[in-house]
Amino acid sequence: MRLFAIFGDPVAHSRSPLMHNMVFKTLGYSGCYTRIQLKDGSKLRETFFNLGLSGANITVPHKEAAFNACDEIRGFANKVGVVNTIIEQDGKLIGYNTDADGFMFAIAPFKNIKTVLVLGAGGTSKALTERFRDEGLSVTVMNRSSKRLESFKENGFETVTWEEVEVKAYDLVVNTTSAGLQDENLPAPDDLITSLLKKASYAADAIYGKRTPFLKLCDTLSITVKDGADMLLGQGVLANAYFTQEQLPLESIRTAMQKSFEL
Ligand code: ATR
Repeated sequence: MRLFAIFGDPVAHSRSPLMHNMVFKTLGYSGCYTRIQLKDGSKLRETFFNLGLSGANITVPHKEAAFNACDEIRGFANKVGVVNTIIEQDGKLIGYNTDADGFMFAIAPFKNIKTVLVLGAGGTSKALTERFRDEGLSVTVMNRSSKRLESFKENGFETVTWEEVEVKAYDLVVNTTSAGLQDENLPAPDDLITSLLKKASYAADAIYGKRTPFLKLCDTLSITVKDGADMLLGQGVLANAYFTQEQLPLESIRTAMQKSFEL
């Protein structure tokens, strides 16, 4: 039996063990997935090997430490310097980032997306905007204040504050701000976000675990949305495919993993 784990601090709330064990059980894969609270990120590598793990996910606050713990980084993780999935291969640790790819997987049913308005200019925004650009999408980043927009601007993205934004039709509006996480705030003033959403085709919210004011507003405007649970599922499906050495069809993994959300 192969052993997998999620490293984080805190980690007790993580749904990853349920998600991955449900896939292993449903698809008859000989694996078991547990959680490990890790205080010191620099101990990640030795803990991984001491436990004889075959793979792991890494969550807050160790995703950058995970990047440094790997022998080789593949794919999008190279661009953002952040790793959320590790597999062991011939005694080496290989690092991936399935967060942004998982987002793309989650919004795959959204058709004909060409322009994206990303709300917020933090870490999640940084990863998603890079990923959207890789996909050839036209990206505009909107933020409450101008300070954090600077690095996006230097990096070639179109950036706007609430005062500067032009209300036009974006195919997809994505909320990466923390507005609505622990409060009932919208990610921008009500009239502004409402007029932007009225012109949009699709929306997504990176916040997991609650119906945010942003998502509730989308509902009242009948806009098709993906929420944080869809993002969580997307990254989990792709991580599981790496864990199981890409032997299981993605769609089977997705269907099995989805069932864990009903528990
Ligand atoms: P993460 O790493 O999860 O992306 P972060 O780095 O803490 O999160 O970034 C939070 C983002 O949410 C920032 O863009 C922040 O805007 P400011 O740069 O102006 O601070 C945005 N944000 C937080 N609370 C907000 C609110 N109530 N309304 C709008 N934007 C908010």
